[in-house]
Amino acid sequence: SISVDPAGEGPAIDDSMYGVFYEDINHAADGGLYAELVQNRSFEYDPADNRAYTPLTAWQETASGAASGTARVMDDDGRLNERNRRYLRLDLDGGDGRFGVANSGYNAGIAVRAGRTYDFSVWARTDRPAGTPLGVELRDGTTPLGTALRVTARGDRWTKYTGTLTARTSSDAGRLAVTAGGSGTVRLDMVSLFPRDTYKGRPNGLREDLAEKIAALQPGFLRFPGGCLVNTGSHEAYEAPDFERKRSYQWKDTIGPVEQRPVNANFWGYNQTYGLGYYEYFQYAEDIGAMALPVVPALVTGCGQNRATDDPELLRRHIQDTLDLIEFANGPVTSTWGRKRARMGHPRPFGLTHLEVGNEENLPDQFFARFTEFREAIEAKHPDITVISNSGPDDSGATFDRAWQLNRDAKVAMVDEHYYNSPQWFLENNERYDAYDRQGPKVFLGEYASLDNRFSNALAEAAYMTGLERNADVVKLASYAPLLADTNDAQWRPNMIWFDNATSWGSASYETQKLFMNNVGDEVVPSRASGTPAASGPVTGAVGLSTWATAAAYDDVSVTSADGANLFADDFSGDDSRWTRAAGTGSWSVRDGAYVQSDAAAENTLVTAGDPTWHDYDLKLKATKQSG
Ligand code: AHR
Repeated sequence: SISVDPAGEGPAIDDSMYGVFYEDINHAADGGLYAELVQNRSFEYDPADNRAYTPLTAWQETASGAASGTARVMDDDGRLNERNRRYLRLDLDGGDGRFGVANSGYNAGIAVRAGRTYDFSVWARTDRPAGTPLGVELRDGTTPLGTALRVTARGDRWTKYTGTLTARTSSDAGRLAVTAGGSGTVRLDMVSLFPRDTYKGRPNGLREDLAEKIAALQPGFLRFPGGCLVNTGSHEAYEAPDFERKRSYQWKDTIGPVEQRPVNANFWGYNQTYGLGYYEYFQYAEDIGAMALPVVPALVTGCGQNRATDDPELLRRHIQDTLDLIEFANGPVTSTWGRKRARMGHPRPFGLTHLEVGNEENLPDQFFARFTEFREAIEAKHPDITVISNSGPDDSGATFDRAWQLNRDAKVAMVDEHYYNSPQWFLENNERYDAYDRQGPKVFLGEYASLDNRFSNALAEAAYMTGLERNADVVKLASYAPLLADTNDAQWRPNMIWFDNATSWGSASYETQKLFMNNVGDEVVPSRASGTPAASGPVTGAVGLSTWATAAAYDDVSVTSADGANLFADDFSGDDSRWTRAAGTGSWSVRDGAYVQSDAAAENTLVTAGDPTWHDYDLKLKATKQSG
């Protein structure tokens, strides 16, 4: 039975308590929420992003009639600009017909829908005085999916050309072909195709179904842009020509005209265009009524790459960048960075109130020293901004305790906690925050999930969230993680919303989150339950056993439980077909294509299909016992 004390006093619940954490993992941005349909639009893909990439990834030559030519990616002083270094050079042999390239988009092909309109654009230049006629067409194989668009590139200076395509026929294997007739040389860059109906019709906008699913949650806040994405890699700035391709996420790289944004290697094993950048994140947060909550790197590299950068000048620059970020978000149009925001289309300030420094640093003392410098500089100039710290990657333990001690002693306003645990853990830890110090820092539960995407996970999370809510005076913000995942290339699971090129669907956990976010109460009404049945075994059976296995070669990995059965192995690839389980023995082997974490190199590695090289790894395979 449940007794409720309507007159009793419980903590107030902030409207912003439940929100979302957005990170470009699992192709959440490029190939996901960012509606660009052309993959590798500026020919910047590189083996440094992913060893299977070439500058022509996703592109194929195409020719019709007697036309022929060569298609080469160039990196020379004919480039579009210093931050967009490569371009495609087509040398045309002048035969009757057309020669060019076709892009396959992400995964199996562009999902083209009959009746929909698509906005095409390209930067081009030609050495042919009469101009070069370009043909732009959506097709599946040799079958056109609509009427081709014709534009003529004129002049040997980079110029942007635009046009629209309307599909007559649907296909999930669409290609965007750009071909040229005649002779001479034509250069192309930033070949782009967006559906006309992006979220709220914004140019350079967001994929509608995904943006709407997130909006339907009515999130109180939007934490972005990561996660491990933020604080891994080099903290140096982009510098042409020999730029570092594994830089931490630095917001200044991600604003301004898209063709002037440099690319970067994404920590999760692919290229990130930064087409979806800080301006777009702020705009989206505003569009869905969520408080924007950006995360900046604290110059202590996390996520298994535990390293503290010891360079006062670099630290000073990052702190200044963070102050500039606040000006970009909140400054008047007369300020340097407020003017840039206005030029991008948003003269009104975005109204930033919270900002997080760092993510999951495993070196609490080194992190806190740097965090303190950020915090002091921000609070000196913007005392109204809440500067959020964190407690490392674990839910408990020495690092966690040390981080909390430092944060508590320094009277930090809010501390971010992250944990991914079994459903059983969530059921057993409902009272976690009952004991938290009411005088200490508030909690931002920035990342959590129970480890699977079953109904029982959603139920365990819902049960846990009642504990968060009961402690709404301490837990001020909470977000499930990760938010989005492409079924074709997921580096992490479980996830809240899954998608492929054509469609998307919420997991059971999505429904839990929606239920809580759509029904945020004003205050907690004290209640007591009695006579509740004692827990009798696990909800999904996920208990206790968690182990790591190692093997010398990635095709020779097995995980075996003590009793030889009932193990669950997850390669975080989102594709269980990459694992085989020997019947009845409880052991697995990894096939080409699995996502592995390499302990030795201390970095994540994607073993891609078709990679002919043999690699040695220490594989970490997490196994969770299913029952018993
Ligand atoms: O949410 C996925 C990852 O989990 C985040 O990038 C990181 O912060 C955490 O380890």
